[in-house]
Amino acid sequence: MKLIPELETENLIISVLKPDDFELLVKYENVNRSHLSPWEPTRITEYFCLEETKKRVELNFKDFQLGSTIPLVALDKTKSEIICLCSFSNIVHGAFQACNLGYSISEKNQGTGLMFEMLQASIEYVFTEYNLHRVMANYIPSNIRSGKLLDKLGFQKEGVAKSYLKIAGTWQDHVLTSKINLS
Ligand SMILES: CC(C)(COP(=O)(O)OP(=O)(O)OC[C@H]1O[C@@H](n2cnc3c(N)ncnc32)[C@H](O)[C@@H]1OP(=O)(O)O)[C@@H](O)C(=O)NCCC(=O)NCCS
Repeated sequence: MKLIPELETENLIISVLKPDDFELLVKYENVNRSHLSPWEPTRITEYFCLEETKKRVELNFKDFQLGSTIPLVALDKTKSEIICLCSFSNIVHGAFQACNLGYSISEKNQGTGLMFEMLQASIEYVFTEYNLHRVMANYIPSNIRSGKLLDKLGFQKEGVAKSYLKIAGTWQDHVLTSKINLS
């Protein structure tokens, strides 16, 4: 069984959401629904309800225990709300030692540097604790904020994949980037 991390940064507490705390995610996803929808797959209405979110949190928690995904949330210091979140998924070991990274921040906290604060600490955690060599993150070219954020975090552009992911109902090209663990 994996130990649940609790990483403390200047403004955040970063951890894995426990199944009992699913209501924090319900609030984050509902409040930020229109903010996130241009950058995510199309979600049906049920996706946002209590029962479906509870199931997703349980599944994420199981995947974390199996070691295939690290679904992290960054809470404020009183642990009363999710500020931002990120997920390291498709974790592969062997000769690849790599994973994919996805992330978002609540609309009201955008542009404060808190997403950067979370990702910097979280990437260091996965490199150290999971001995990963490469984290891959991909963004739609028009997502300028995401591109700047990855650049600041030290991700290198590796190319463009045509028609890569179906986001907001349309197959969209993505810029492919990676950060390599140099230690
Ligand atoms: C992409 C996304 C996560 C970027 O978040 P962000 O808040 O812009 O990222 P950061 O934490 O790095 O903050 C960036 C800005 O805050 C500014 N900032 C940093 N510290 C600050 C502080 N203490 N006070 C005020 N501003 C600050 C920085 O100057 C930076 O702006 P700059 O890059 O223009 O200089 C966010 O736009 C988002 O959630 N979008 C929707 C979902 C999404 O697109 N996910 C990614 C899919 S690939």
